[in-house]
Amino acid sequence: MKVDVLLGLQWGDEGKGKVVDVLTPRYDIITRFQGGPNAGHTLEFNNHKHILHNIPSGIFREDKLNMITNGVVLDPIVFKREIDSLEAMGIDLTKNLWISRRAHLILPTHRILDAASEAAKGKSKIGSTLKGIGPTYMDKTGRNGLRVGDLDLDFESKYKALKAKHQVLLKIYDYEYNMDEEEKFFEGIEVIRKFKRVDTEYELNRFMEQGKSILAEGAQGTLLDIDFGSYPFVTSSNTICAGACTGMGIAPTSIGEVYGIFKAYCTRVGSGPFPSELLDDEGERLRDIGKEFGSTTGRPRRCGWLDLIALKYSLMLNGVTQLIMTKTDVLDTFETIKVATAYSIDGVLTDQLPYNLSADVKPVYTEMQGWKTDLTGVRSKEQFPRELSEYIRFLEKELKVPIKFISVGPDREQIITL
Ligand code: GDP
Ligand code: IMO
Ligand code: MG
Repeated sequence: MKVDVLLGLQWGDEGKGKVVDVLTPRYDIITRFQGGPNAGHTLEFNNHKHILHNIPSGIFREDKLNMITNGVVLDPIVFKREIDSLEAMGIDLTKNLWISRRAHLILPTHRILDAASEAAKGKSKIGSTLKGIGPTYMDKTGRNGLRVGDLDLDFESKYKALKAKHQVLLKIYDYEYNMDEEEKFFEGIEVIRKFKRVDTEYELNRFMEQGKSILAEGAQGTLLDIDFGSYPFVTSSNTICAGACTGMGIAPTSIGEVYGIFKAYCTRVGSGPFPSELLDDEGERLRDIGKEFGSTTGRPRRCGWLDLIALKYSLMLNGVTQLIMTKTDVLDTFETIKVATAYSIDGVLTDQLPYNLSADVKPVYTEMQGWKTDLTGVRSKEQFPRELSEYIRFLEKELKVPIKFISVGPDREQIITL
């Protein structure tokens, strides 16, 4: 069977964790294939909220195999913390979580370098989650990195050599730091040792041949992609569908469905351009109702209207076959809803995302009637208010991809299949 991929189409936090949890019963295997603990994926069920950073969102469903594959950067400290808190809930993952030997490790000094780099950038900082993502991927492409497979190959001396390189860099940054976290790092390494460490590319391709179904869970979102996002205000991995091939070791022809997930509006956390951002009371209202505060850092998320120019760009890059709209309920009380359908740049209209997404890019909005109905208890499309059906029809016509799921609340149950 082919691998289905679920991807964020905006600037992250689209509700990937929730939807992966909803879709997991349909699959045998769930993978995380890029990014690292910069991700915060929230799942809610039985009145409990769980936020996952390194671990795939399939782990709360029994009898599913989860894999952290080669494209991921793994922080042993965060990993141990996650494993410990799951263990406290009676969930033992040592049997059903496998880790790629090719996944790169985030060292304490990677995180310190992230902080040093951001501090050095001053006002033009990226607004990184400071989880060491950039420096770890830099070491990966610079061919200096330490991988999970190195745990069995003279690990301590490799660790020391990489740490020493980092310390030279930190001197150049003239950045003050301590190594307090080093002990925890090695504790985390011991936890990783308890897990099956394999060549996940072989395992996945074998599972595909055996007819097993696989869902790949993207992290971040297309507009944070290292190549196509709003560079330099992006993350350091390919968040688009192609990243699933390199991040797992599967051929492009092995990709099946591509689920594209987007919020009914738009958010962004960290720095960088955001044409449809609302800096007024309406933006504040979206943040309050949508509880738009980062799952990883707690930072307030910037809020704005849905941007179809950006969304169409994301659809093009990912080959999305099915759409999922989340946080629809957050718009329940809005009299009118706006959607950006074009940009005006120096008075010229365009429906293309420009190379320079600067402040000169002004969104042109289409205004829609709000539904003014509480959607949180709605469970079938027959219960949809007319205005919501119109909103969905309008989006499908513009995007030319069917919307297959509408999410109306954070809980696992609050989703409607169309
Ligand atoms: P992810 O990074 O894409 O997994 O998304 P996050 O978990 O960072 O952020 C999404 C937030 O919205 C979480 O707090 C979810 O519990 C919540 N959420 C997901 N879907 C919905 C929805 O349809 N409605 C509402 N109100 N909240 C939702
Ligand atoms: P999930 O998977 C939202 C943002 C950061 C920053 C930029 C670079 O939960 O959707 P990094 O730590 O990668 O160096 O940060 O990317 N960012 C995210 N924003 N959701 C995420 O993940 C993000 N991961 C990184 O805020 O602007
Ligand atoms: Mg998130």
